[in-house]
Amino acid sequence: MIEARNLRKGFGTQPVLDGVSFRIEDGESVAVIGRSGCGKSVLLKLLIGLLPPDAGEALVDGENIAPMNERQLLRVRRKFGMVFQGSALFDSMTVAENVAFGLRRHEHLTEPEIARRVAGALEMVDLPGTENKQSAELSGGMRKRVDWRAQSFTNRRLCFMMNRRPVSTRLRPTALTS
Ligand SMILES: Nc1ncnc2c1ncn2[C@@H]1O[C@H](COP(=O)(O)OP(=O)(O)OP(=O)(O)O)[C@@H](O)[C@H]1O
Ligand SMILES: [Mg+2]
Repeated sequence: MIEARNLRKGFGTQPVLDGVSFRIEDGESVAVIGRSGCGKSVLLKLLIGLLPPDAGEALVDGENIAPMNERQLLRVRRKFGMVFQGSALFDSMTVAENVAFGLRRHEHLTEPEIARRVAGALEMVDLPGTENKQSAELSGGMRKRVDWRAQSFTNRRLCFMMNRRPVSTRLRPTALTS
């Protein structure tokens, strides 16, 4: 669950977010849309504690993140995955190495178990058998699908996707005006 309660943020004399409130339940997909510079990225930064709000609260699973120290924030940030506009794969690695990257960092698994999970994940995004391809050989859409899978692998329940165009017509847009 992610909740914003009357979030305000400005830089110098420029107000960016002027009292933003919403609540996103587990399993919901929400799109934040708005013109360039209206404050979408600032909002996401407030929600993971990369920027402090001027006023209001950001809650993740019911916990207000404002008073948290870096160590506590790290625990909250581990819940989040990020899929960037350009997708954030390591070009020098194969598809399998990219997908397994988070797994190796956060869990202690045997190599056969990692291989099994990677294969399962690639099947889920319609890319079975692509383990040994270099990431640079993939199309933009394929990269994004691998990226998405790599993110959910590290057991992140909450995911931000940064996109220039809507990824699915099933998303419910939440308009954000500054
Ligand atoms: N650290 C900062 N210091 C000063 N101003 C900032 C900072 N971060 C963002 N801004 C300003 O806040 C406003 C919102 O920026 P933000 O990055 O949230 O836009 P955006 O909606 O994500 O735009 P885009 O669609 O282009 O990514 C902009 O005017 C930007 O210049
Ligand atoms: Mg942005």
